[in-house]
Parts: sequence; C-alpha cells; structure tokens
Amino acid sequence: MPEPSSRGVAVPRRQLSRSVLVDADVIRAAVPELRPGDERYDAELGARFAEHFPRLHGLFRELYGERADSLASLAAVVDLAVTTWRERPEALKALDRARTAQPAWFQSNRMLAGVCYVDRYAGSLDGIRRRIPYFRELGLTVLHLMPLFASPEGNDDGGYAVSSYRDVDPALGTMPELASLARELRDAGISLELDFIFNHTSNEHEWARRAVAGEVVDGVAYEDFYLIFPDRTMPDAYERTTREIFPDDHPGSFVQLPDGRWIWATFYHFQWDLNYANPEVFRAMAGEMTFLANQGVEILRMDAVAFIWKQLGTPCESLPQVHLLLQAFNALLAIATPGVVLKSEAIVHPDEVVSYVSVDECQLSYNPLQMALTWEALATRDASLLNQALERRHGLPEGTAWVNYVRSHDDIGWTFADEDAAELGIDGFEHRRFLNRFFVGREPGSFARGVPFQDNPRTGDCRITGTTAALTGIEAGDPGGVDRAVLAYSLALSTGGVPLLYLGDEVAQPNDPTYVSRPEEADDSRWVHRPFYPEQSYAAREDTATPSGAVFAALTRLLTVRRRTPELGGGRLWPFHTGLRSVVAFQRPGWTDDLPRVVVLANVGDDAVHVPAERFAGFDRVAHELVGGVDLDLRGGVSLPAHGIVWLHATPR
Ligand code: GLC
Repeated sequence: MPEPSSRGVAVPRRQLSRSVLVDADVIRAAVPELRPGDERYDAELGARFAEHFPRLHGLFRELYGERADSLASLAAVVDLAVTTWRERPEALKALDRARTAQPAWFQSNRMLAGVCYVDRYAGSLDGIRRRIPYFRELGLTVLHLMPLFASPEGNDDGGYAVSSYRDVDPALGTMPELASLARELRDAGISLELDFIFNHTSNEHEWARRAVAGEVVDGVAYEDFYLIFPDRTMPDAYERTTREIFPDDHPGSFVQLPDGRWIWATFYHFQWDLNYANPEVFRAMAGEMTFLANQGVEILRMDAVAFIWKQLGTPCESLPQVHLLLQAFNALLAIATPGVVLKSEAIVHPDEVVSYVSVDECQLSYNPLQMALTWEALATRDASLLNQALERRHGLPEGTAWVNYVRSHDDIGWTFADEDAAELGIDGFEHRRFLNRFFVGREPGSFARGVPFQDNPRTGDCRITGTTAALTGIEAGDPGGVDRAVLAYSLALSTGGVPLLYLGDEVAQPNDPTYVSRPEEADDSRWVHRPFYPEQSYAAREDTATPSGAVFAALTRLLTVRRRTPELGGGRLWPFHTGLRSVVAFQRPGWTDDLPRVVVLANVGDDAVHVPAERFAGFDRVAHELVGGVDLDLRGGVSLPAHGIVWLHATPR
C-alpha cells in the first residue's frame, strides 16, 4: 500500500532495502526537486542529497530498519529536507554557501561566544536587540540565548521544559521578532545560537497532552511519543541501572501520572522524555529543528544528548543509538540547511564527551573537563591534573572545535576521569568531596562562595553552583579574586576553539542569593548564578579600582589580543613543561611547526614563581609578551606573580 509522506508524495510502505541506490530512486521518483531532468530539479540540493543521503539511509537502517514503515519514515524526513530548503530565506542560503566553502569558520581566533537569559539580561528580544552595540564592543561572534520558548508557568527548569518549539514565550517576544533579531545579529557579525531541547518536552506540549489522552491524529499515535507504562514493573526494571539526575525533585527516572501510569522523566517531573525508538518522534523533532534553522538560528545547542536513547539493563546514557540519532540530525541538516552546526552538551566522562564530536555528528562541544579542572587547579593551587588533561585529552577530530568556558548556567560537576587522577596519586572520590567542600566555603583556606546543587547524601554525589566572581574569591573580598577570574578566562581564551563568556562575568557579577525568596526557584540552587542584568557592575566597568572595572579591563585586553593572534585560533595544542606544579603551561602552534607559537603560562598558586631560562632553550632569545605588550629576554627566564598569566609569542629555533 503506498503511504503518503508528510507532503503527500506517495512512497511504498516497506522496509528499507539493502541497496541505498534502490531506495534513493524510490524517493527521487516521489520528489521532483531531486529528480534530474525534472523542470523543478534543484541541482544544489540534488548534489547534497547525493552526498549525504547514503549516510542518512545507513543510519535509518540501523535505527529503524526492522520496521515495516522504515522507508516511508525516511522518505518523510527527506521530504522535510526538501521543503526546508525550498522555504529557506535567500540570505540563509547565501550563508549556507559561505559556510560550506569555509567549514572551519568557527575555528577562527576572532570567535567569541556570549550567553545570557533574554529576560534577565535584557527583558525581552527587543532588549537584546538594543544591546547589540555592546556585544559588538566586546567582539561577540556568537550569541547563545538561553531557552526562550513557550513553557509552563512557574518552574520551567529555566525554559528547558518546552511547550512549543514554534512559539516564543510571549513575555519575551514573538517568533517573527526572533527571526528579525537573528537577521540583525547576523548583520553585526554575530551568529544566533539556541538550545535544541530534544530529549524531552514539557508536560504541556501538545504531543504530551495527546499522549496522555491516547490520541491518534492523522495516523500518528501520540502515546508512542513518550515512554508510558501501566505500572511499576518496567520502571523498576529500568531503574535498576539508571542514575538519578534530579533527586531533589523525584527519585529515579519516572514520575506517576494522575491516572496511576508511570512516565519517563529524567530531569524535572514536568519534563517528559521522548521515545526516539519511534521514527515518528525523530521526524517530528527534525521538523522543529529545521523550522528553527529557517528562522536564522546558526548553532543548535543539543541539550542533554546523552539521555535520548533508552535500553533495558543499561545506564540509558550515551548508548550507541544516541550517536546514530545525532548523526541522522546532522545528515538531515547537511542536506537541508548546510550552514547550521550542532554543539553537543554532554557533561559526562571525558571519553564519552569526545565521542560526540565529529564533522558528521556535533562539530562543536562544550569542554566540561577543561572547565572543571580550571576550578580544580585554582582550588588546589596545583595544575597537574589540568596539564595532564590538556596534554592527552585536548585533541579533537579535524574540522571540529571545543567550546571552552569558565562556567555556564548549570552546576559544575567534577567530570574528570578517575583513572587519570589515579595516575597522579589522586583518589577521585575523595578529591571530588574535597572540591565540593572547597567551593561551598567549608574547607579551610577556601576563597569560594559557591552553593551545593543536588546534594545527594545517599550516593555522596553533589555539584557546585556560583558565579565566577563568587567562586574565585572576588565576592569574599579575597585579594586574589580578580586575578583568578582573569586567569580562568585566560585559559578559555587561549586553548583554541570557541571561547564562551557568560555575560555578566566580564564585570564580576556576584551571586544572586535572592533566588530563595522566589518559590519557583528556591529549590534549584543554579538560580544563584543566573542573576539579573547587573546595572551597577556594568556602570563600574570603566573604574579599574573596582573588581568590575579590574576584571573588565583585563578581560577586554585579552579579547583584543586574541583577536589579533591567529595562533590562538584552531585547536592544536602542545605541552610545555615548566617543572612547576602550580603553572598551567602549553604551546599553541602556528600553521606550520617553524612559525612563531604562543606559549601560555598561568600560575594558579598563591606565590610568585620563576620559570627558568633553560625551559625556553628551543626558542629565539627575544619573545613578545602579548598581554603586557612587552618584549622579554628569555635568557632571564620568565617570572609569574601569584595568579599571573603570560602569553609569549615565541619563535622556535
Ligand atoms: C541541560 C541544561 C540544564 C537542564 C537540563 C534539562 O543539562 O543545560 O539546564 O536542566 O538539560 O533540560
């Protein structure tokens, strides 16, 4: 029986064949834009289809090949790609072509991302628009706006419970306003990044309502969009191997519906996990994704990637099918909107974090290991773990990049590998406990004013929240606070990839303890570091006698230097051994090995140190220190004050 695909073109209801050519022909026969010789044939799209369809086909075979409707499902996804391209605004098509011609655009040393909440930072989309001059002043090339979609009243997990991917929260603006903001940002050289929250929807999403009601609409059974079970049998079985993510909200991975059934909810009870074993879910989310791409979103932050596939008897995290699904989204975009890139949010074991990064999966990824170990080094005044990670875990596949950051809107989890720590004689479990105590100020000598998050006495698990100013000691009035904050950002700015600034950090924004008085936030300590636009801190940013001014001056200096220094782009990083435990040290090579390099040194210790001359034996005698703008004679070695940083432009001999 032929079955209509989403646009009504007929493809047979059958399984994918072993031959990609046969299936490609079946699909081409139904889609004129892909049929060479047809007057509607689109050569550009046709070429991309020819290139990426085999990939998509292989992924669909692996994911859904056993199903009777797998060919129809794939045809519907191709159909979506064709429709998306047809409807794509010309300016975005032009951008697609530019990006395709220069796929490594995000590796430039001019890249700088900023992130903020629309409501907190600027009130509305219009408010964000009015801040574009400031973003330009900072040199932003990417703006990540935190979730801005329609979501439930009250607690909505900071917008991560989405009730409609096609509607902006009315308090912030409208979808046409978002599209026009994307245009204005693009004109200012800034790419818009949005979250793609695809592991779950809110319980108020139309799909969710239909699922609970058991509705079947146009042949689509919505109950199969989620994982709903009549009793505890299956939830108990799954929970034997899953971990608790938000234990403060509910134990385990399931919540009970009013009618007594159980539904999968990894995060808050109102965030229901989607069932990607159902190809209809993939197709539906692909529709939301391409819709957003056509509004002008250039980077999609793939939220909570690790959780999107469930399988009994496993932890239900980072399963092989997760990668297949991400690659399938990637292949779809490569056909439909080739300029759009994916950024992975996988805050997991470092081996797993990198497994998401490739040109065929997510081209960008948060670098949670560098982030966590930056804090670890500041707390211990020992750079050993961080240097080890930079030496062995920094490399990424060609054509991809890290997003290096100091902090995000989320908690800090100590995601280093226990086996790496053990090599340095560090017990991972004990060390995490120490770091948690340190950052909440419960350890002697601590300068930090963090707050615990999801403190789980049963498992001993805990994570940390707090702004950069709070965690570095600025808030506590520690004399090293400002320099530590600058040091932390200097690492994010010098290790390559896309550095990410949490807007407000550049003016040393403190914690917001008032969240506890807002009922919908009180139980989620992440709100302590998601403060409102800090008028006073920004007003003080030219006054270097204040922490805000001191951080701002130092950071903007680093930003300027980075923009002028091509060696700080790309991702190649080599070790540099100083023999000093408190010094983070590495080299950023130029395009070829004999060109000048940048040698980065950062002292996390509370005492001044001296890197002796022999460590620089491989370099010409005179190097240029980029941050201070002075020449240094390396025969005298290099001195670093407490929390001091040095970016040496040095030529190998
Ligand atoms: C991601 C977000 C986090 C959110 C969670 C559930 O980890 O960064 O803020 O709570 O996903 O959507």
